[in-house]
Amino acid sequence: MSLIPQILRSLKNLPPFPMVAQRALMLVNKPELSIQELVEVIKFDPAITANVLRIANSAYFGLRREIHSLHQALLLLGTQELLKIIIASGATRLFANATPGYFSERHGLWRHSVSCGLMADLLARELTWAERATCFTAGLLHDIGKLVLSLFVDQKFAAIMEVVETQGKPFHRAEKEILGVDHAEIGGEMARIWDFPDRLRLVIRHHHLDCPESFSDNLVLLIHLADVLVLMFGQNLGREGLAYDGYPEVLKHFGLRERDLEKILLHFGCIWNDAQVFFGLIGSAHGLQCAHRG
Ligand SMILES: [Fe+2]
Ligand SMILES: [Fe+2]
Repeated sequence: MSLIPQILRSLKNLPPFPMVAQRALMLVNKPELSIQELVEVIKFDPAITANVLRIANSAYFGLRREIHSLHQALLLLGTQELLKIIIASGATRLFANATPGYFSERHGLWRHSVSCGLMADLLARELTWAERATCFTAGLLHDIGKLVLSLFVDQKFAAIMEVVETQGKPFHRAEKEILGVDHAEIGGEMARIWDFPDRLRLVIRHHHLDCPESFSDNLVLLIHLADVLVLMFGQNLGREGLAYDGYPEVLKHFGLRERDLEKILLHFGCIWNDAQVFFGLIGSAHGLQCAHRG
């Protein structure tokens, strides 16, 4: 029996994307974003404010003095860094309740998503792109389709793996063959329902580079590369990582050589531990979400 009707029902019952994170997403590409505009976005959400202060004071930013207020955080870190923290902090509310599905550990999807966001940010730095908050956000949200599909992947895991093994297909193609749809397609639809900016929607829909137009957007290519590098780093491979199709031509496109990748992976290894505070968000978000529902 096809699972498509059930999958579509899950889409219909999608919870709203957290409002503060949604408003922050709209500001990511705004030129000359003012500190006051950002403070206005978060000041009425105490949970996100607390998370912002927690992350700003973590080893990840390595600031020498303690930060006590949003204003101070904004002045010391700047609007781009703060946007990243706000979006990650808001998104935890959705990821906290994700079923494992694609990952063997409960919060595997969150860890993979944060890792990909951080890797995209590092790549943007290496390529001297100015839009680092955009890259982090796109990396963080590229696999949101898994939030809906993980339940169904769990049910059909053996059948999906049989297609991977007998036909040599990458995981997301096998997923499409068995479920009738893959997580990138579902993610694209979620991004439409949540009214994400068009470019972010494009990344989510095409991060597996599954059609010619995927190759025409630099951000889509960068997130694909970040996804591959996170797998190469060897953390949190998940089930998709068992059979992932990477495109080496993307490296050439960005003029990156193997030794650049080695440098990026080394750097990623250094920030990995300091970034644990992002991974810690999920525990607090879980408590918060229960309070939210009640
Ligand atoms: Fe994916
Ligand atoms: Fe991914």
